[in-house]
Amino acid sequence: TQTSKPQHFLSTADLTKDQLYNLLTRSIELKVEAKYNVSTPTRPLTGKTLAVMFSKRSTRTRVATESAMAYLGGHAMFLGAQDIQLGVNESLLDTSRVVSSMVDGIMARVGGHDEIVTLAKESSVPVINALSDKYHPTQILADLVTLHEYRHHKTLNPTEYTAHQQHPSETLPGLKVAWVGDANNILQELMVALPKVGIHLSAACPKGYECQQDVLDIAKAEAKKEGTQLIFTTSPEEAIKDADVIVTDTCMGQEEEKAKRLAEFAGYQVTMDLAKRGGAKPDWIFMHCLPRKPEEVDDEVFYSDRSLVFPEAENRKWTILAVLDSLLVKKSL
Ligand code: CP
Ligand code: NVA
Repeated sequence: TQTSKPQHFLSTADLTKDQLYNLLTRSIELKVEAKYNVSTPTRPLTGKTLAVMFSKRSTRTRVATESAMAYLGGHAMFLGAQDIQLGVNESLLDTSRVVSSMVDGIMARVGGHDEIVTLAKESSVPVINALSDKYHPTQILADLVTLHEYRHHKTLNPTEYTAHQQHPSETLPGLKVAWVGDANNILQELMVALPKVGIHLSAACPKGYECQQDVLDIAKAEAKKEGTQLIFTTSPEEAIKDADVIVTDTCMGQEEEKAKRLAEFAGYQVTMDLAKRGGAKPDWIFMHCLPRKPEEVDDEVFYSDRSLVFPEAENRKWTILAVLDSLLVKKSL
């Protein structure tokens, strides 16, 4: 039985700079260990269970979580929207108290952010946010590891993967990331995470698409503290000026909204031409959390040598592995 409150992971906004860097370095250590068989796995979570409660579809987050849990020797119990009473027929409060009484951790993908907050409040075991409408913390950990690796290896396809001599605090600060797209959970997580590690962020969203005020406040305070730039504009060209990295995500929303959004996001598709017009750095690289649709980025960019999207997707596994190792094995972030 647990007496003290467990630690949760709902957003990188709740992490100190050191905690964030620790998760990145631990991800890299575990990747080297697991992918390149540097040492024999110890399976520290043998006999432990993670409830994976997803009320929405997922490819990457689910595969990353289940395979990471297997690597650690534990069991990932997938509970989809059709399987359990996740806010349907039973309150989230009751679900959280019941499920957490039988498992060692909960990874949950929810609709509204208040749902993950309730789960965490009522849970006797650590709760990890696997995506809410406000934040997507495990995604941005993968993005940061991917950027670090790119800066470290100076290539998209390193032929060997060994322990890193450089710390992410030597590779990440000073980068300029440009966001072109919707004001969604991915942008909001980038806003609270990037300034913390010294990365400049400029975001272009169409008029009427704005981030939540409390997220803006956190991002501004962090940017001031770390001396990084935080720019908001409605012009994609302005956002990508001098950018090292261009990032976007799906912006089409639901089918019924598609026609409206196609008009509002006109000029927001990431293309080689847009990058050139806006004056991105000559060696700019492209990132996207996936799943991707051509409306936000064309095939030429998406499948180009500049695109880090597939290493970024793979790094979901190594970063989720580090989160599980921290919260369930070491019991602290
Ligand atoms: N990037 C991401 O979270 O993908 P899934 O929705 O497939 O998990
Ligand atoms: N903004 C997207 C991200 C998917 C990983 C969503 O919330 O569905």
